[in-house]
Amino acid sequence: MKKDTFYITTPIYYPSGKLHIGHSYTTVAADTMARYKRMQGYDVMFLTGTDEHGQKIEDRAKEAGVTPKAFVDDIVSGIKDMWKLLNISYDKFIRTTDPEHVACVQKIFKQLYDQGDIYKGTYKGLYCTPCESFWTESQLKDGKCPDCGREVTAAEEEAYFLKLSKYADRLVEYYETHPDFIQPASRKNEMLNNFIKPGLEDLCVSRTSFSWGIPVTFDPGHVVYVWLDALSNYISALGYNSDDDSLYQKFWPADIHLVGKEIVRFHTIVWPIMLMALGLPLPEKVYGHGWLLLEGGKMSKSKGNVVDPVVLCQRYGVDAIRYYLLREIPFGSDGVFTNEALIGRINSDLANDLGNLVSRTAAMVGKYFGGVLPAERLAGDFDEDLITQAKAVKIALEEALDKLEFSTALTELFALISRANKYIDETAPWALAKDENNKARLGAVLYNLCETLRVAAVLIAPFLPETAGKIRETLGGDDSMYTWESAGDWGLLKAGMPIAKLPPIFPRIDVEKELAELEAINPAASAAHEAAAGKAEKEKPANVASLSQITIDDFAKVELRTAVITACEPVKKSKKLLKLTLDDGSGQPRTVASGISPWYKPEELVGHTIVLVANLKPAKLCGVESCGMILAADGPEDTVKVLFADGLPAGCAIH
Ligand code: ME8
Ligand code: MG
Repeated sequence: MKKDTFYITTPIYYPSGKLHIGHSYTTVAADTMARYKRMQGYDVMFLTGTDEHGQKIEDRAKEAGVTPKAFVDDIVSGIKDMWKLLNISYDKFIRTTDPEHVACVQKIFKQLYDQGDIYKGTYKGLYCTPCESFWTESQLKDGKCPDCGREVTAAEEEAYFLKLSKYADRLVEYYETHPDFIQPASRKNEMLNNFIKPGLEDLCVSRTSFSWGIPVTFDPGHVVYVWLDALSNYISALGYNSDDDSLYQKFWPADIHLVGKEIVRFHTIVWPIMLMALGLPLPEKVYGHGWLLLEGGKMSKSKGNVVDPVVLCQRYGVDAIRYYLLREIPFGSDGVFTNEALIGRINSDLANDLGNLVSRTAAMVGKYFGGVLPAERLAGDFDEDLITQAKAVKIALEEALDKLEFSTALTELFALISRANKYIDETAPWALAKDENNKARLGAVLYNLCETLRVAAVLIAPFLPETAGKIRETLGGDDSMYTWESAGDWGLLKAGMPIAKLPPIFPRIDVEKELAELEAINPAASAAHEAAAGKAEKEKPANVASLSQITIDDFAKVELRTAVITACEPVKKSKKLLKLTLDDGSGQPRTVASGISPWYKPEELVGHTIVLVANLKPAKLCGVESCGMILAADGPEDTVKVLFADGLPAGCAIH
């Protein structure tokens, strides 16, 4: 019964800022699996969504001066747009603010409390706010959060705990009896050695220090810990605990939870224990993929290094990005993202190999046969080799995809593309065309090339859906020629079918020129802009543009002026904001709120001259009316440096 369904999930994303290409990594991979399984005939449920509660979101909303719900609504709509752009074919998008999810989590919490798996105690520990994670002393790395490397703070409060310890033995037994549960296998040892063997401590699953969370129904003031809330999405999305749990009945347990390696811990310890406590079956597989890195560091919103998928898709097309993500880095490993490697892949694999094969083949059918597919008549040298390889790719690709080895799967497929290009060189159609006696053989060669393209169009569809569509448009034909099964067959295209010409599907990129352009639009100033705007998380300029170009007239609209800081104090309601009083030369004091308090003490700033964006529309930040902003730069290692213009008096214009 479970066999013909396939349930795959991505983590639900924190809508705390802009998503970067690292986030699209998980979704593009999950989307490829979902498309693959749909083509194979499975009834697929592909779930993604957003994880909207917690202190981090509450803080960000406060800084932005809006309610948490308004704050997340805005970002979530951007996330949905991005998934649309990337052709993410999710079946359901869950938000943890959905009332159905909230109700489900409240019932789960209550049930676990009633049966004694959740109990009330006192929490003493170390908390990393950006990661929403509690740590014990021994888990810290150099005294800092082992996940993100930032400071942790001591926290003590009355709280509810989940009895992880009670289930530790059962969990280990489950790992042992289900060797494929955690993939890649190395991550299993990490869980056992780093977390389970040292002794599982009960997990604090409620908070009282902030309110943006799901309230514990029987103890007002407590909200459910974000991870308990978030993990439940995988069953709440299916209607578990609701009046209609038919989707739950149909799809649970999940076939694959796809997650980044840093959250394997939650998915292979906390989540299975929650499920065991609820008496529910465990997911078949948790796959922890590696990170996409930028210049040696993790690409994260909080650290900066952001590469904007929207900009990349605009420049290179969505399939180029999907291809790069799936091909460049073995899925379980970390890999470094560079523009050079991306452009290199586009040029060599997509433009040269695949693009050329499609356009050459279509052009030759056009030139030699008036755009009509010739019959496969005269067999000759090299045919068997090509045809055997074409028919075999499906199996090899399936074997790889079933293990989530996307890169290997694409390598197999592109080996066929190369083989076909080589076949063109070997058979030299242009030479055959010179002699009318070779017409039948020439026809057979082009038929074989078109058939190879048909097979490629089927097999590439889960990875590059748009490209698959374009190849299919060129070849024509009906659905039966493009079923997944048909990729293992040969000879489905019919002589006489019109073969359309098409513009190059992947135009070659001039590497030097492109890199220079990327360099030129690389917005060094955007970091300073964001720092000064009081954002909690700083984004270093990435090696890819995240801003579009502006004209000199646009720039002239910005009125920059020097100003002297005459007074400075922290903003009480905010951890990040300082309230600055400025002399801007106008004779009227001016107030500006700036998110620089982690880096400057108020008394350090008084007396300095800074650069002020004087004509910025005023905004209310945590109760302070902020008129303008001051320029600051992102320094190394997550520091922020205000740009001082000491020596200049207040009110100088800056051009
Ligand atoms: O962790 N490379 O959300 P998130 C590869 N809300 N993957 C990356 C990446 C990178 N540079 N940066 C992020 C959360 N990801 C929780 C999940 S699930 C019940 C709750 C991946 O927005 C990351 O590994 O921080 C994770 O799989 C996903 O993006 C969402 O990360
Ligand atoms: Mg994260």
